Amino acid sequence: MSASPRLVILDTDPGVDDALALLYLRARPDLRLVAITTVFGNADVETTTRNALWLRARLGLSAPIHRGAATPLSRPRGPSPVHVHGDNGLGDIDLSGLDLAPPDNGEAHERIIEIVRANPGAVTLVAIGPLTNLALALRAAPDIADLVAGVTIMGGAFERGNITPYAEANVHNDPEAAAEVLAAPWPLTLVPLDATRPCVLSSAQAFAAGDFVREVTRGYAAAYARHEGLNGCVLHDVAALISLTRPQLFASRRAPVAVTTHGERAGQTVWALEGTPVGILIEADGPGLVEHFLRTIAP
Ligand code: RIB
Ligand code: CA
Repeated sequence: MSASPRLVILDTDPGVDDALALLYLRARPDLRLVAITTVFGNADVETTTRNALWLRARLGLSAPIHRGAATPLSRPRGPSPVHVHGDNGLGDIDLSGLDLAPPDNGEAHERIIEIVRANPGAVTLVAIGPLTNLALALRAAPDIADLVAGVTIMGGAFERGNITPYAEANVHNDPEAAAEVLAAPWPLTLVPLDATRPCVLSSAQAFAAGDFVREVTRGYAAAYARHEGLNGCVLHDVAALISLTRPQLFASRRAPVAVTTHGERAGQTVWALEGTPVGILIEADGPGLVEHFLRTIAP
């Protein structure tokens, strides 16, 4: 008798690798997507919400979609990384031809609170964008820290950043939110660039994975070729989801994590000597993870 599926709320800024994470989620009978909440990051929140609605229609998903934060907690929103995720946030693929419903009722952070309170101990929050919605939910309802089954976050970097030499994009987009989320007393696992960088989908693998993967990653992979000389693209957000289903592909440690919120190192995540310890995935079997991803999404 297989265990009942793990309930997942995906907080996301789609985003090309976010789209691939949804493709993985769709293929997993052990994960049940109960809601999608959107946030600014790879594009403005109107665009990331439109992209989530489009992905739901394109991938045949049924979860409700709730629009979330348009700006960080306490600083202006930075520029969208159009050079990585394209002007439309999804690698500039053609988004025409699908009738999109409007977002579902309820602000993202309010729906996170409601769903977690209605399913005590059963919901895993998976955040693969800036952490503003999770911080707002914690501020409004600190009790959810005791009610979630877990929190998994794609974010942070200990060796080197991507948006700056020090900071990873999701944390850099809202360092104050990341600091509050990482300090909260909930069961949290961080999936930083140290673990996601080796998770490279080669261009040949993307081509062989079918039309959707090939088209949605084309521009994203071109950006990696231009900026990092990579043959392919990095599956940051997919790795966060796979940490739920294949933990054996990762090496982990536990330590408190501090977030720098000012100066040129804003958004940097560093090991701290005191504070709430969190799980940190410090390494991953990148090729093994990518193979698992491709096997899972294969038709
Ligand atoms: O730094 C990588 C992260 O930033 C990923 O979640 C990507 O989608 C962007 O949001
Ligand atoms: Ca993302």
